[in-house]
Amino acid sequence: MDVDSFIKDAVADIKVSVRDGKAIIALSGGVDSSVCAILAYRALGERLIPVYVDTGLMRKGETDRIREVFKFMDPKIVDASGQFFAALKGVTDPEKKRKAVGETFIRVFEQVAQDIKADYLLQGTIYPDRIESEGGIKSHHNVGGMPSHIAFKGVVEPIADLYKDEVREVARALKLPEEISERMPFPGPGLSVRVIGEVTPEKIAVAREANAIVEEELVHQYHPWQCLAALLEKGTGVKGDNRCHGWIIAVRAVESRDAMTANHMELPWKTLNRISSRITSEIPSVARVVYDITPKPPATIEFE
Ligand code: XMP
Repeated sequence: MDVDSFIKDAVADIKVSVRDGKAIIALSGGVDSSVCAILAYRALGERLIPVYVDTGLMRKGETDRIREVFKFMDPKIVDASGQFFAALKGVTDPEKKRKAVGETFIRVFEQVAQDIKADYLLQGTIYPDRIESEGGIKSHHNVGGMPSHIAFKGVVEPIADLYKDEVREVARALKLPEEISERMPFPGPGLSVRVIGEVTPEKIAVAREANAIVEEELVHQYHPWQCLAALLEKGTGVKGDNRCHGWIIAVRAVESRDAMTANHMELPWKTLNRISSRITSEIPSVARVVYDITPKPPATIEFE
């Protein structure tokens, strides 16, 4: 792929697709939506309205970082966490969670789009998203989870033919900060797929802290393709003199090329010990930490 001509063509295509209309983009802070936002900003300037939806399912500090990095585009920040938790209430099936998050996402956008009279929705769907959705492996919130009645004139997907490493190349060429161009993939449904079973604000808060610790300990030192913490069930532990019933956190770190297959990383014991002791001491409601040693297949990267 020639990056410069890709950028030129993508910008030209967005101009043609949106004509003199307005477009909104779901800015999540991931490399995919960030690249799309920059391409669209080049094509449309202020006719692009970047919208960051705080789903309540994002990682620690994510909203503040987005606000900072994209402030030149004046992104609209929408706190919709209440709507997402309401949609997820009682939902335990992983695919239903994805649908619940995806549909809420689109509804929130439709509302913002109506308010600002936007005609088009720009999306950062990439090639592997389409393959996995078409193959029926799972429904990505930005593909299979989309409701059929969308109040937009059209959906524009400028990087739908790119693989992840190509998106990162484009991100570097667009001079996005390294924290975004090299950012690990993070699922559209956010931390909801890192909580087994029903999603509640309390469980998400625990998963958020645990994910932050795992990232702090692993990202810069080991450069995993992806690392994460998932909240499983409750199990018995001992804290102080008492037996307690606390959360079990599973830590996962994988190497991969395109997320279709992955291998669990062989991390040093001292690193795993450090993660375990940090999680159990910094998050008092956690009683136990386990490390996932399953490749994909048969496991997936996420726990749901
Ligand atoms: P799995 O868990 O299927 O994940 O091995 C492969 C890659 O996709 C990410 N992932 C998602 N991304 N919406 C997304 O946008 C989703 O519903 C979703 N589920 C998984 C996962 O983080 C990994 O990078």
